[in-house]
Amino acid sequence: MSQSFVEPAMEIAREAGALIARYYERRIGYELKSEYDLVTEADRNAERLIVERITSRFPAHAIVAEEGGGRDGSSEYRWFVDPLDGTTNFAHGFPLFNVSIGLERSGTLIAGVIYDPLRDEMFAAERGGGAWLNSRRIHVSKVNRLQRSLVATGFPSYKRHANVNVHYYHQVAMISHGVRRAGSAAADLAYVACGRLDGYWEIGLKPWDMAAGSVIVEEAGGKVTDMAGGALNLYGPHILATNGGIHDEMIAVFSDVAAGRYRVPLPEFDGEGIPSLND
Ligand code: IPD
Ligand code: CA
Ligand code: CA
Repeated sequence: MSQSFVEPAMEIAREAGALIARYYERRIGYELKSEYDLVTEADRNAERLIVERITSRFPAHAIVAEEGGGRDGSSEYRWFVDPLDGTTNFAHGFPLFNVSIGLERSGTLIAGVIYDPLRDEMFAAERGGGAWLNSRRIHVSKVNRLQRSLVATGFPSYKRHANVNVHYYHQVAMISHGVRRAGSAAADLAYVACGRLDGYWEIGLKPWDMAAGSVIVEEAGGKVTDMAGGALNLYGPHILATNGGIHDEMIAVFSDVAAGRYRVPLPEFDGEGIPSLND
């Protein structure tokens, strides 16, 4: 992997991030792609900018972009662009969203950048070159028991009624320090890479949500697979990214949930009033 891809990717992500941050200041409105799936002018214009910049530097490369502005290419390189990851946060003024740009060559992810414009945090990695947060080299945490870990997950907006993740959420929440739901898959992955989180999983992501973050986690010393421990498929249904130390334990918990074995039973609730934890 040549340095010549991650540098331009960072430059482009920084420019797109600045554009998004300007829209954020103005508190613009949103439209709906489906009942709960939001999109804004910032998503579309940031994507247009990123695609234009990639195309002008690498005209033969293919681009897969969330808002549909991608293009076919004739080379073995393919970029995955999420111009604004965390649109629901963005639209509500909740200050966590990112630009996420990943690159694969002949099916192998080789570079990724995730930029948080509000914190001016640039997470970046190229295959074999380590992972970075701004000018600092980053590494995953050393926690090796789920019981001592802080992890994260997410729930997609698309077809969310069909998503069973609440079952996995409950189980992991009961046997860890907690499960965060911050609303940006890119941030979740970047935070695993720098040790703010020990693990992250989600069901129903898209390739542009996972591409950049998975290279960054791996280059930070972490492990990225699907939730059953198989190789990550960018077009597949789920992802598990951890520091490596809690990976097998998380897979064991998931396999129990998948088989209907709950380590901590769901609390009984008869639907009559708000329950109390007193006494
Ligand atoms: C979403 C965010 C969210 C995750 C959803 C994604 P978007 O991306 O990453 O955290 O739970 O599954 O779709 O729509 O804001 O780019
Ligand atoms: Ca996304
Ligand atoms: Ca997005």
